[in-house]
Amino acid sequence: MVKNFYITTPIYYPSAKPHMGHAYSSIIADFFARFKKIDGFDVNFLTGTDEHGLKIQRAAEKKGLDTLKFCDEISKTFRDLSKTLNLTNTDFIRTTEKRHQKSVQHLWKELKKNDDIYLSKYSGWYSVSDEAFYTDDEIEELNGKKVAITSKSPVEWLDEESYFFRLSKWEKPLLDYYNKNPDFISPKTRKNEVISFVKGGLKDLSVSRKSFSWGIPVPDDNKHVIYVWLDALTNYISALNYPNTDDELYKKFWPANIHLIGKDILRFHAVYWPAFLLAAKIPLPKKIYGHGWILSGDEKMSKSKGNILDPIEIIDQYGLDPLRYYLIKEVSFGNDGNISQDKLEDCINSDLANNFGNLCQRVTAFAEKNCEGKIPNNIEFNNDDLKILDKFKDNIDLIRKKIDELDINFYIDFIISSLFETNKYFNDQEPWKKKDDIKRLNTIVYTTLEVVRKISFMLYPIIPQSSLNALKIFSINESEIDYSSINDHNFLNGGNTIHKIDILFKKIEKKND
Ligand code: ME8
Ligand code: MG
Repeated sequence: MVKNFYITTPIYYPSAKPHMGHAYSSIIADFFARFKKIDGFDVNFLTGTDEHGLKIQRAAEKKGLDTLKFCDEISKTFRDLSKTLNLTNTDFIRTTEKRHQKSVQHLWKELKKNDDIYLSKYSGWYSVSDEAFYTDDEIEELNGKKVAITSKSPVEWLDEESYFFRLSKWEKPLLDYYNKNPDFISPKTRKNEVISFVKGGLKDLSVSRKSFSWGIPVPDDNKHVIYVWLDALTNYISALNYPNTDDELYKKFWPANIHLIGKDILRFHAVYWPAFLLAAKIPLPKKIYGHGWILSGDEKMSKSKGNILDPIEIIDQYGLDPLRYYLIKEVSFGNDGNISQDKLEDCINSDLANNFGNLCQRVTAFAEKNCEGKIPNNIEFNNDDLKILDKFKDNIDLIRKKIDELDINFYIDFIISSLFETNKYFNDQEPWKKKDDIKRLNTIVYTTLEVVRKISFMLYPIIPQSSLNALKIFSINESEIDYSSINDHNFLNGGNTIHKIDILFKKIEKKND
């Protein structure tokens, strides 16, 4: 069975330093990458920066910096953020790299060769902030300025010679493709949006610009640069060394399993990208998932609105894993979510410190006193023990299926209810009253430890460092985390030492408590 898994984040614009929205997409992608890794997959996880186009050129001009130097600086803050977020990305691509430019020019030539590109003239609206073309009915007036209705970004009028991609030709094939591959676009509401957009009729797409030079030159006509979205989307295959389709990376990982993106860039990924790929006879990715937005004060975060949340500030204040946990749990995946420090503090106090951290401390302290600090031997499970252990065994494949459906909410609910049940189990079993029935006492301790081990494995994709800290109880290291072992009731070896660990999460004193 092929166990390769390729997931991507959008490549972000280095026009300004990263914010919470970028952190969100990257953390969600890391969650899936880590889960697949502990489930035995060979994982390729790509992120990076999207550095061409007028948006970036103007941002650099504003700072009075050379464009590439400007990109170097800000791209580095994104690369650093990947480390700060503890991402397991296997690559970080920049569209200004040679490997990428070669790939994009090759794709262009393929499209040209297949007669999908022709020279004409573009007259219409363009938003530099979105790097997108808009029709008359997609714009409105806001405070006396013309803006795109969906993004509220200002638009400007363009009149210039441009190469076009025959997008109209792919209208029917795209609709057929969506129809035959019902899971290609998720969640469902977004899929419906895309389908009605395509059904509304596709016009040919302008794919080159002549009035500035910050981009990849069009092969054989270097007065033009390639449209930044055609350039950027190609990153997903240029990082696999396309056009070298015999390359190990390409063979193993294309087509990608998931392009994880925000809903703001769905049209580019679910319409343009598949059309380019169909035209170039390249297989299509398996799934495009457009998640919702992190809102700040009920609005999408954006530089122009001045409501940017800085992930670094939150991490400095609360730590990384609380932020990862909060974003994965509290922002209902697929929908928009308002970010709130109050809710983040609740997550830390109740889920992380009380339900998980405290359970780890309690059972290890009890074992220290009553089991000579060792994992108990000589145990015999009764129905109460089996009930709590079997929950994992019975759900092992369902959880895998839910992960493939990107149902993060199911995964996290499973963990939370298991933690709740385990705490209740430990209380109800009252091992402290079983001192004359050592076998029973041992079995309760073993069962609780075994569940702590299973839950720590499942928490690894969400809060990797804290999971590893908890697993120090058993001297289990990262390479030993194996999802398929959550169905093993006897994973822990009786007689092994139980190690005391530091408090996993410090409770936050809340202002109104
Ligand atoms: O669009 N909430 O780059 P970008 C959640 N370069 N996610 C958010 C967000 C928010 N408020 N704000 C941004 C681009 N994101 C192109 C992509 S891909 C070939 C090229 C996340 O810097 C979300 O994933 O504007 C969104 O799609 C992406 O950042 C846009 O980042
Ligand atoms: Mg954007």
